[in-house]
Amino acid sequence: MYPLIVKAVEWVNGRVRWLNTNLLPHHEVYEESDNYERIAEAIENMEIRGAPAIGVAAALAVATTILNANKKNISELRSIALKAIERLSKTRPTAYNLFWALERIKRAVLQHYIDTEGFKRAVIEEALKIYREDIETNIKIGEVGERFIEDGDTILTHCNAGALATAAFGTALAVIRVAWYKGKRIKVIATETRPVLQGARLTVWELKKEGIPVALITDNMVGYVMYKGLVNKVIVGADRILLDGHVINKIGTYTIAIAAKKHNIPFYVAAPTSTIDIRSTLNDVKIEERSPDEVRRILNRVLITVEDVEVLNPAFDITPPDLVTAIITEKGIVTPPYVENIRKIFSS
Ligand code: MRU
Repeated sequence: MYPLIVKAVEWVNGRVRWLNTNLLPHHEVYEESDNYERIAEAIENMEIRGAPAIGVAAALAVATTILNANKKNISELRSIALKAIERLSKTRPTAYNLFWALERIKRAVLQHYIDTEGFKRAVIEEALKIYREDIETNIKIGEVGERFIEDGDTILTHCNAGALATAAFGTALAVIRVAWYKGKRIKVIATETRPVLQGARLTVWELKKEGIPVALITDNMVGYVMYKGLVNKVIVGADRILLDGHVINKIGTYTIAIAAKKHNIPFYVAAPTSTIDIRSTLNDVKIEERSPDEVRRILNRVLITVEDVEVLNPAFDITPPDLVTAIITEKGIVTPPYVENIRKIFSS
C-alpha cells in the first residue's frame, strides 16, 4: 500500500544485505554477508544503525550463519548459534531491540529438534518473522500516529528514525510518511545530529528521495526555530523506553524535549513495542560512550579541535516522562500515566 523506497536490511538468497549508512548521502553501497562476525562489526561501526535495524540485522546474522554453517549435528549448530548471539549482544549496549530480537532467536535455538534441517528451518523462520514484523509494525505506527499530524504542520525530528533505522519505512518517519501519502501538506525540520550526523546525512537523504519537503538545521538552532514559531510538533524515535515512560534516544533528544515543553509544542515518541523494556530501571540502562574522535573530528576525518582534548561522547540521553506528550506504538497511543498505560498495551 505504501512504497518501501529504502530497504536498509534484507534477506537475499540466504545472506544478509544492508545499505552501508556510513557512506550516505554520497554513495549508495549495499554490503552482503553470511558471517555473523562481519555483521557484528557492521553494527559496531554503524554501517547498520538505529534500534529496530540493529535487532533485525542481528537476528538475520544468526540465521545466515546457521544456514551456511558446514556442521553435521544439532549440538554443533546450536553451539555456533549461541556463540553468534553472544557476540552480537556485545555490539551496542543501549538499543533494546537488539536484546529483544536475540532473546527471540535464542528461544528458537534452545528448542528441541529431531534433525538439523528442523533446527535450521525454525531459527531462520524466527529471524524472517522478526524482519517481516518490523516492516508491518512500522506501517502500523505510521497509521496510528498520523492522526496527530495536521495539514500545514512543520514537524521537527532528530537523528534518523526513518527507513534507514529499521528494515524499512521507519518509526518517527513512518508517521510523517503516512501523513504525506494521505495528502497532508507537511514539512520536516531535521536536526543535523552531531557528532555522527544521522539527521544531515540520512534523514535528509531519505525524505528528499521521497519528495517530502525537508529543511536542515544545526542542533543549536532548535530553541530559535521554536521561539520563532517555525515548528508545531516534534516526533522522534527511541532506542529504549522504560515502563515509567523514560525515553532513551539519540543524544540531544532531551534538550529538544525541554525546548518543546517551554514552547508548548507536543513532543511525540514513535517506537515499536519491541523498544519498550518493561523489566529494566534507569540504573540498569547503559548509555553507550563512543570514540572521542567522533567529536574531535568531522566524520572521523577533519580534526576540528586540539588533537588530545578530553571529550565526552555519550551516544544517547534520557528524556523524562513529564516531557513526553505521547508514545506512538503499533498497538496504539500511550499517554500518561505511563506505568499503567504501558502495562495495558502489553496485556492487549
Ligand atoms: O546511534 P544510532 O544512529 O544507532 O541512534 C539511532 C537513534 O537514536 C534513533 O533515534 C533510534 O534508534 C530510533 S530508530 C527508529
